[in-house]
Amino acid sequence: MDATKNADAQVTDGCPGDGRSGGEGACALEKAADELRRGGVVAFPTETVYGLGADAFNPKAVARVFEIKQRPSFDPLIVHIDDRAKLSHVALDVPPAAEKLMAAFWPGPLTIVLQKTPLIPDLVTSGLPTVAVRMPAHDMALSLIRACGVPLCAPSANPFGYVSPTRAEHVVEQLGALVDRVLDGGPCAVGIESTIVDVTDGAPRILRPGVITAEALSLVLGEDVCRRTSHRAPLAPGMLPRHYSPRVPIALFEGTIPAAPGNAAGLLLQGPREVPAGYALVEVLSRNGDPAEVAHHLFAALRQLDRKDLDILVVELADERGIGRAINDRLRRAGCRDGADQG
Ligand code: TXA
Ligand code: MG
Repeated sequence: MDATKNADAQVTDGCPGDGRSGGEGACALEKAADELRRGGVVAFPTETVYGLGADAFNPKAVARVFEIKQRPSFDPLIVHIDDRAKLSHVALDVPPAAEKLMAAFWPGPLTIVLQKTPLIPDLVTSGLPTVAVRMPAHDMALSLIRACGVPLCAPSANPFGYVSPTRAEHVVEQLGALVDRVLDGGPCAVGIESTIVDVTDGAPRILRPGVITAEALSLVLGEDVCRRTSHRAPLAPGMLPRHYSPRVPIALFEGTIPAAPGNAAGLLLQGPREVPAGYALVEVLSRNGDPAEVAHHLFAALRQLDRKDLDILVVELADERGIGRAINDRLRRAGCRDGADQG
């Protein structure tokens, strides 16, 4: 893969010894780790979306992440680790349910909310006694965390409230001038953010749906996992109604495709369908409506359509089951215009 160059941030693919990392021949990943250890902010790939990483133990570095993202301080960050053995630096009281989930899904797109240790600054958790932790299933991310020797807190590497980035170019376009380095690991395989599950008070609850579904979690835990379905009563400070939003207004539908509302309407479909005349642009997210493929393409498609000068984007909802729930969660937030947060 080509390393994208940017005048402000160094964008490198992090291969050991690659001669392209700034022309200096040293490993880009080592350099990124070095910057992170010195309090820098580095965007890096994960299997879900790109993250905006900083040393989770360094409050100054964490503060820079909030500043770069323009993220309100009441919205806590996820802490990323590379090794189960290092969980004890981050979290206390790991309940049996968490052990089962880690054994089944780590490394992978599952974030688990646990009690935090005093090593984690309050800024990371927005003052909460809990911390959200995950181990990403991405070699570059794992190698980076290992090389840093500290856990990395990393929100999605987008300006607050905008669509999450699934390619290094997405990060460079919006935040390239503000970060110290962008590591390019190619397109993210999963494409939407991790499932977040809270196991701190008895019954496990899903705070954010993802490709690890309620059904998969329930199977591993041997009990029903509740889904938080309402957007109106956020349980986590960051579960705000308006999120993942492109600038173009979005109209959601299920079933019959509505007639094009005007001359500059775009249509985003889950799978191939017969399209009524009048749409200026039509995008299909999966050749056979496969939800995993839809998730993989969703954010890149929203970003691309957002640049097309459309008056409105008409978007088909997924079937409300399995991964479809996570897709619909992102689409409803993207389409939400009446949320309190306009980030
Ligand atoms: O896939 C992902 O999770 C990506 C990659 C980069 O790892 N990260 C990500 O981070 O999506 P972010 O900051 O965009 O979303 C983190 C979410 C927020 O909604 C936040 O409220 C929630 O995690 N969260 C963080 N700490 C929490 C806690 N202690 N309790 C409940 N929710 C928490
Ligand atoms: Mg985010």
